[in-house]
Amino acid sequence: MSAGAAPSPEAMGLIAWASRYLEENGVIKPRLNAELLLAHSTGRDRTELYAYPEMPVAADCREGFVTAVERRAAHEPLQYITGTKGFRYLELQVDPRALIPRPETEMLVERAVDVLRAAPGHPVVVDVGTGSGCIALSLARECPAAVVYATDISDDALALARDNARRLALGDVVSFRLGDLCDALDGELAGRIDLIVCNPPYIREGDFPSLPPEVREHEPYVSLIAGPEGSELHRRLMEQAPLWLAPSGLLLMEGGEDQVEGLAAVAAGLGYESVKIHPDLNGLPRIVEGVSPPHST
Ligand SMILES: C[S@@+](CC[C@H](N)C(=O)[O-])C[C@H]1O[C@@H](n2cnc3c(N)ncnc32)[C@H](O)[C@@H]1O
Repeated sequence: MSAGAAPSPEAMGLIAWASRYLEENGVIKPRLNAELLLAHSTGRDRTELYAYPEMPVAADCREGFVTAVERRAAHEPLQYITGTKGFRYLELQVDPRALIPRPETEMLVERAVDVLRAAPGHPVVVDVGTGSGCIALSLARECPAAVVYATDISDDALALARDNARRLALGDVVSFRLGDLCDALDGELAGRIDLIVCNPPYIREGDFPSLPPEVREHEPYVSLIAGPEGSELHRRLMEQAPLWLAPSGLLLMEGGEDQVEGLAAVAAGLGYESVKIHPDLNGLPRIVEGVSPPHST
């Protein structure tokens, strides 16, 4: 559907036009999207737009706004258009090189922060599959005593994570490594890691066609799809983590709500101890953790 009549130059008129256009194109929460895009295009915040509804919007901002609304109407994710995503205490740069961090993952970080703050000295933590760097950079910011590594199999994702680290003045704090799961790490870390935290891809191949276009057509395939089962990466990591974890080291993973209980059973079968499941903000099972099996010592 085309953008239709030229929008009026006032903030509220622009929002009303964009909301209608986005709704006609099947965008969920069209008004909120319209407000956030206008805030982005004008460099103002949403409350300011409401405080001054008659505020005229300059022609160049209006042009940028119309382009942004057209991109959103074509189902490009809002955060790839604005280029940012808030995650815990950080404002991260996001673009199609990596997955947009999800709110559920903030709970994974919450648990990791608790574990690291309770650990003596300088605990070593690895964020496996770092994507934008949201987990590793949050841990570096919130747990300054921790020694933080981050791995990813995607060069593009690592480049974005490094950009974020530099922008947040954490470039010298987190060590990034390219490669498959923990194999990306230097061998001398084997048996010395206190915490492995991972939000791996966990969507089944067969579910890919039914994903929303925002996800299917814009986020990297490698960040979404694990394989036919959806839990392939979790399983491989559970198998290799004992080689890397220190005695009593913890493996902490996010998974799908329909996967986590099965993963907990696999972890227990592999000899992990104190296996626990944690719910997300909606009360759904989302995080599984287990202490490294004793034979890894
Ligand atoms: C679901 S995304 C999570 C990204 C980020 N940690 C977050 O929570 O937003 C999974 C990430 O794992 C990476 N990945 C996929 N397979 C991998 C592998 N075998 N080894 C390391 N990283 C992998 C992807 O490139 C992607 O960045």
